[in-house]
Amino acid sequence: MTIDEQTQRDAIARAGDRVRALSLSLGRKPTACVVTFGCQMNARDSEKLAGILEESGFSIIDDEDADFLIYNTCTVRENADKRLFGRLGAVGARKKEKPWSRLAVCGCMMQEELHVDRLKKSYPFVDLIFGTHNLFTFPSLLDAVLAPENAGNMIVDVWDRTDRILEHLPSKRKYPFKSGVNIMFGCDNFCTYCIVPYVRGRERSRRSADILDEVRRLADDGVREVMLLGQNVNSYGKNVPAGEEAAYGSFPELLAGVAEIPGIRRVRFMTSHPKDLSDELVETIRSHDNIARHLHLPLQSGSDRILKRMNRGYDSAGYLALCERIKARVPDIALTTDIIIGFPGETPEDVDATIDVVRSVRFRNAFTFLYSRRSGTPAAGFADQVPKETAQEGFDRLLRTVQEIAAEETKKQEGSVGEVLVESVNENDARLVTGRLSDNQLVHFPGDETLIGQFVRVKLCEAKGFYYIGQRVQGSDAVH
Ligand code: SAH
Ligand code: SF4
Ligand code: F3S
Repeated sequence: MTIDEQTQRDAIARAGDRVRALSLSLGRKPTACVVTFGCQMNARDSEKLAGILEESGFSIIDDEDADFLIYNTCTVRENADKRLFGRLGAVGARKKEKPWSRLAVCGCMMQEELHVDRLKKSYPFVDLIFGTHNLFTFPSLLDAVLAPENAGNMIVDVWDRTDRILEHLPSKRKYPFKSGVNIMFGCDNFCTYCIVPYVRGRERSRRSADILDEVRRLADDGVREVMLLGQNVNSYGKNVPAGEEAAYGSFPELLAGVAEIPGIRRVRFMTSHPKDLSDELVETIRSHDNIARHLHLPLQSGSDRILKRMNRGYDSAGYLALCERIKARVPDIALTTDIIIGFPGETPEDVDATIDVVRSVRFRNAFTFLYSRRSGTPAAGFADQVPKETAQEGFDRLLRTVQEIAAEETKKQEGSVGEVLVESVNENDARLVTGRLSDNQLVHFPGDETLIGQFVRVKLCEAKGFYYIGQRVQGSDAVH
């Protein structure tokens, strides 16, 4: 254990004493809730925060009325920011009736000074603000914010960078049977629209032995599916200190290592940047049938002019050729993507070019976003911002194509049998359970909560756009 790790462990113990004192005065165990606003990485950070809170003695609940509430924010698009401010007002009112309660705000938004200033000015009831780089100091911050002498004071601790990666901190998984695993932090790509490199900092990879150890421990603890997380997993192990390359290796090597850990039934990863996806990676997927038959490959735009201005490092021909190579080697793989519409300078012809790529690749699903101007990014300063109505028009056109193709592709699997990892009871119909196929498609089928966390064979009876209605079948010859 490093000195940093020991310091944080000691802080968890001190916070634990404070939680015990609170428990005595309340006559019950205090509760804590961590709300995730962002991506899988944000969600994984929330699990770490919840782990620390639990180890300090809080009972973790899914209710914002908790005694300790954390908002883990996202700032990738403007509506993510709006969601936070919308929620804060209501919490402020509730907090007055519970003077012992604490509210923390952390995550990507807090790496931007303007948001922190706004909280200081208009939401003084927030007790603690911290950022992405010092998430690992949460035990010390928790200890400080629970100290009675700090009641009513706002503690603000946001770092502008870090080169440290702390191992061995607790985490509390949302699902017992699946888990995200960080393999790297930050991003060095600087796509011109994107705020992530500014709020998550430079790329840092974890050592492969630490990652494999974590996955082994997760497998021993009942985890059957892991998702390896990084903003661009293909650059895992690059940009590491000279002479230490052997401690990392390449992403395909790491992926194979994870897939070969006993007990791991399914491995996913997010996100792969098209500019440096290697043939070795495709081969690794092909040769391991427990690596999910799903590749999320963000296109962003199909127009070469726009791709260049986005600084994506590939053109549409390169992207199409890559998809062909992948499909030729792994025919049952489902490709999904992210697309931005309304990037500065985008014309209806550029949208046509994007739609052409969507038609050629035939994505199983695509997340479509309206361009959101993020201050501090290069594209925010581009003069030719696209009017909202023009962007919306392109967006609607693209969405229709995406939905049409996704529905056709989903339909092709109708009647086949797939292996579903059951995740939950269906939210709308308690007679159904919901799970995912290896190719990440959602399936709803009759069943009860005893199936949660299990892999079951399901016939895909009816394709419904982006999901299936299925029926459980017996036997063991799953097709995907
Ligand atoms: N590292 C991942 C993506 C992280 S953000 C990758 O490169 O694929 C997830 C998605 O949000 C991006 O793929 C992009 O489509 C979208 N996005 C990012 N910044 C955006 C912005 N300013 N406006 C609209 N969409 C954006
Ligand atoms: Fe953002 Fe580009 Fe990095 Fe993805 S690769 S996080 S889109 S800068
Ligand atoms: Fe949002 Fe931060 Fe993820 S900005 S998308 S939570 S890396």
